[in-house]
Amino acid sequence: MQAPEFAVEGANVLVTGASQGIGQAIAETFAAAGADVAICSRSMDRVGPVADDINEADVSGRAFATECDVREREDVAAFFAAAADELGGLDIVVNNAGGEFIADFEDISEGGWEAVTDLNLGGTYRCSQVAGEYLRTSEGGDGGVIINMASVNGQHAAPGESHYGAAKAGIIRLSETLATEWADDGVRVNCIAPGLIQTPGVAETLGIDESDIPERGETYRRIGYPEEIADLAVFLGSPAASFVTGETYTAKGVPRPGNSMSNDLGLK
Ligand SMILES: NC(=O)c1ccc[n+]([C@@H]2O[C@H](COP(=O)([O-])OP(=O)(O)OC[C@H]3O[C@@H](n4cnc5c(N)ncnc54)[C@H](OP(=O)(O)O)[C@@H]3O)[C@@H](O)[C@H]2O)c1
Repeated sequence: MQAPEFAVEGANVLVTGASQGIGQAIAETFAAAGADVAICSRSMDRVGPVADDINEADVSGRAFATECDVREREDVAAFFAAAADELGGLDIVVNNAGGEFIADFEDISEGGWEAVTDLNLGGTYRCSQVAGEYLRTSEGGDGGVIINMASVNGQHAAPGESHYGAAKAGIIRLSETLATEWADDGVRVNCIAPGLIQTPGVAETLGIDESDIPERGETYRRIGYPEEIADLAVFLGSPAASFVTGETYTAKGVPRPGNSMSNDLGLK
């Protein structure tokens, strides 16, 4: 008889885009579970306080923060090197930084297309490639874990999200491919595909008021909470998921057809 192996205590976890929203919740949840975290965003003024809060909290995980723009290869390389140095190696990498704007396909300029695909898919490509330098092992056995933030919009089409949906679908296929290419190096690669989650980014885009949202656990027919995605990330990072790779885990409450953000706002 064996107890489940959900523990991530002592793991070294890197999370991109952790100054707010899902990335912040992932960093805090790993730290609360006893993992040390290295976090980044484009602004030290924004990500620094998240690390300070973790370091001042009554949790055993420690936090290190630095500025890094995942669109810049040099930033990414420097962030991973500093994180590995500061934490003493890396075990789990969460490629979370991402974002979008909603627009009809015919209105998306070259620049708009490039901005969304380069942040989401390009950032995941860049960070995964650099992550491989730290997570792959030639010794057999466990290397590390990569968790990529996809979206239900990468699984199902939704109006206004052609650029974002294409990028997130690309992240899913990239992750599946990496899971096969790096299997012998002991690296597991999985995606999380959230439905609509209450974060500052989404609130800003859609004008959602937090007071309109039911309590976590009250119903499945609601907007999700960042912590509900963070819990899934901890599972995927843990030894309990040792036979899980190349998969995409969806977390969206009650299934709704045509999962576009605008449809979800009605939460029908
Ligand atoms: N919320 C949802 O409903 C939802 C649903 C499906 C998927 N997702 C995905 O989940 C992830 C997080 O979403 P969220 O709603 O939490 O987003 P959010 O509230 O907009 O936060 C995005 C985070 O990414 C950082 N960031 C943005 N551009 C960056 C860059 N170039 N380099 C480094 N960091 C950058 C931001 O920090 P700074 O501004 O300080 O740089 C911030 O910490 C994204 O990949 C998103 O596509 C979200």
